[in-house]
Amino acid sequence: MAAKTLGVAVIGLGMGRACCKWVRDSKNCKLTAVCDLNEERLAQVAKEFEVAGEKSYDALLARKDVDIAYIMTPSGLHAKQGIQAAQAGKHVVVAKPMDVNVQACDELIAACKKAGVLLAVDFNSRFSDEQQKIHFAVQQGLFGKLILGEGRLKWYRAPSYFEGARAWHGTWKMDGGGSLANQTIHQIDQILWHMGPVEQVVAAQTGIFAHENIETEDLGLALLRFRNGALGSIMGTTSYPKDSPYAGIEIHGTEGGVLTTFDEPKWTFFDDARAARLQRCVPYKTSVENIAAVVNGETDKLVCDGAEGRRANALLTAIYTSAREKRSVDLPAPK
Ligand SMILES: NC(=O)c1ccc[n+]([C@@H]2O[C@H](COP(=O)([O-])OP(=O)(O)OC[C@H]3O[C@@H](n4cnc5c(N)ncnc54)[C@H](O)[C@@H]3O)[C@@H](O)[C@H]2O)c1
Repeated sequence: MAAKTLGVAVIGLGMGRACCKWVRDSKNCKLTAVCDLNEERLAQVAKEFEVAGEKSYDALLARKDVDIAYIMTPSGLHAKQGIQAAQAGKHVVVAKPMDVNVQACDELIAACKKAGVLLAVDFNSRFSDEQQKIHFAVQQGLFGKLILGEGRLKWYRAPSYFEGARAWHGTWKMDGGGSLANQTIHQIDQILWHMGPVEQVVAAQTGIFAHENIETEDLGLALLRFRNGALGSIMGTTSYPKDSPYAGIEIHGTEGGVLTTFDEPKWTFFDDARAARLQRCVPYKTSVENIAAVVNGETDKLVCDGAEGRRANALLTAIYTSAREKRSVDLPAPK
């Protein structure tokens, strides 16, 4: 039987414009509509991709040519808009982070389950060759027993990033935090994905060092202990002078490791033959392609479903609690 092609609508056309390109290149997916409150931006992107432009989210969800709602609006809207999409019978993809708190994530997971639709959290870096191969290495035990996992990001965000239409950045209500919640969340997700669940945030500190117009941190640091006994750390800042491409993870175990800060990952193994065994875990390159593969029966698993996406929010919450209350914070064992 021929595979079904799924209609995809992208909602929120900041970074969402780039997502339109990803959808265009995704197997068994077709970009059918875009949505944004900003009429000028909406008209531009609709024209560029030759698709329908809907200012009204309700009108978008009423469209029969939309099977997947790909939500790229400010983070504090993800669960609310995702729930609406699920209730309209659409599969849901939400940008990272899943929302701004764990309760909202739980409500979205429950709504998608109730509606019988798929929910993916768009930690898009999980689909890169680099991250796929790291996960393969972990799954195959190529690093041996995991010892240390570090996530690091040193970027700059100018004051203008937090102003005007983008003033939702750096707020608790819509961004859910600062440099950890918005920028470093990819590294937080990658570390969780590869190292497994965190048992305790041993200590954390956050602060505002280089900005005047934000309410959340521009530098955050956390020390972690994982359930498998390994240790880890997270460091993320948007205070780095001017610009730095420095962002990545570093993981090592008893037999090998990897550092991803550069264009190409740097692998290290006691047994060099292991490097030749590295391969992707799944062929999918985007969240929407992954959803289409599930709908078409090619796989029964999403690379990052709601439960996986929620883990980053839970860790983030524990880090902020640890920093605020100056104490270690235990995380519940995964169900
Ligand atoms: N995966 C990635 O690499 C990546 C990169 C950047 C941003 N993001 C995520 O994407 C989301 C958006 O971030 P951004 O940087 O593009 O923000 P942005 O402010 O640049 O763009 C957001 C867009 O959403 C529109 N919008 C706001 N409310 C809306 C509503 N109710 N209905 C329809 N449109 C609405 C705005 O008009 C704007 O065009 C955030 O959750 C962010 O964390 C992901």
